[in-house]
Amino acid sequence: MENFVYEYPTKVCFGRGAAKANLPGILSAYGPNVLLAYGGGSIKKNGVYEEITGILKEAGKNITEFTGIMPNPTWAKVQEGANLARERKIDLVLAVGGGSVVDCCKIVCAQAVTGEDLWDLEMVRHKISSRAPIPLGAVVTASGTGAEMNGGAVITNEDAKIKGGMFAAAPRFAILDPEYTMSLPRMQVLSGAFDTLSHAMETYFGRSDRDNVSDQVALAIMHSTVVNMRTLLRDIQDYTARSNLMWTSAMAENGILKVGRVTDFECHQMEHQLGAYTDCNHGQGLAVLHPAYYRHIVKDAPEKFARLGQVVFGTEGAQAAVDALAAFIKECGLPTRLTELRSRTEITPELLRQVADSVNLLQGGPRQLTHDEVYEIFMECM
Ligand code: NZQ
Ligand code: ZN
Repeated sequence: MENFVYEYPTKVCFGRGAAKANLPGILSAYGPNVLLAYGGGSIKKNGVYEEITGILKEAGKNITEFTGIMPNPTWAKVQEGANLARERKIDLVLAVGGGSVVDCCKIVCAQAVTGEDLWDLEMVRHKISSRAPIPLGAVVTASGTGAEMNGGAVITNEDAKIKGGMFAAAPRFAILDPEYTMSLPRMQVLSGAFDTLSHAMETYFGRSDRDNVSDQVALAIMHSTVVNMRTLLRDIQDYTARSNLMWTSAMAENGILKVGRVTDFECHQMEHQLGAYTDCNHGQGLAVLHPAYYRHIVKDAPEKFARLGQVVFGTEGAQAAVDALAAFIKECGLPTRLTELRSRTEITPELLRQVADSVNLLQGGPRQLTHDEVYEIFMECM
């Protein structure tokens, strides 16, 4: 095991009725001014808005709404939220949504308390703000990213064409009610779950010693994610599968799998830059890229691939594991080609060259890629 320090800052309230049962008590610890943040309005259609605002009013809170947080949240949206939080002297930010709302709010909480531009501080000068952020709570309505249980936030700077990971405080508390996810479109349910599978795989394919306990946990998370996704293919509203996936989502990104080892996350780097240029859906972008990336590195970690295949898909050998993953993506009906992704711009070889050249090349995986190889991977996904 590598040396590590593990600290866990988020209180998690899980299950049916978790908001009604737990939020009133939690809210009493915070001041009166709450910024209620959400996305494009799904919470107004599924009753979550009504339930949460009811609890906030009952608790005597003054509610300021911060709305319209888009999938792949932008730096401009962060600034809008930070200005609002500053003006209204916000005591608590309550993010109600998926990874995009939670991520945007993480940086809103940090940006609102400092005059420094946090993008410049973190992404250009590679420093971290020492100011304590406004406390943040998350009510999860779309699982997959695990954003509710970590301090990272993925923000798109549209001018710089960078979708990058920033650091802020993790939510103080998270409400995880699987019923809140029931109104999600089928494709978002599956692409979110595939994101969870990707997180566990990206962690597992980093460097670890033999019989590393974190790897064993990662394999269990992958297996459970695949089993529960298959249950959803038969019945997308299956509560047990939804609740297991909500928890594997949190488990894959709450740091537990990462202790004592180095991680890969090169596929995420590729997807994030693809997202910066095309605004594609995160989980769907990963579904397209993963098999192609793994075909490139399968010979660099044959034993690990074979072990994953055996535990997760019941296959023998390294290549069979990659084939089984590709077949599983098809079975789920997830996209397998870049041309199937929703994109704000046409995906051409010229665009992919620019995207490839902007991808961060990490060193934690089985082998470090080059920008030319990233371009090859993208072209193989056309
Ligand atoms: O905006 P609304 O109207 O709410 O609609 C959203 C959105 O269109 C909809 N939705 C959410 N809950 C719903 C619902 N629709 C119906 N019923 C519900 N209950 O779902 C759509 C997608 O939401 P979004 O939050 O964008 O999805 P997701 O949770 O997949 O988050 C993706 C973002 O998280 C980042 C991704 O890069 C992407 O920007 N990630 C964050 C990570 C982290 N902080 O740890 C790790 C991940 O690797 C990832 O990069
Ligand atoms: Zn992800």
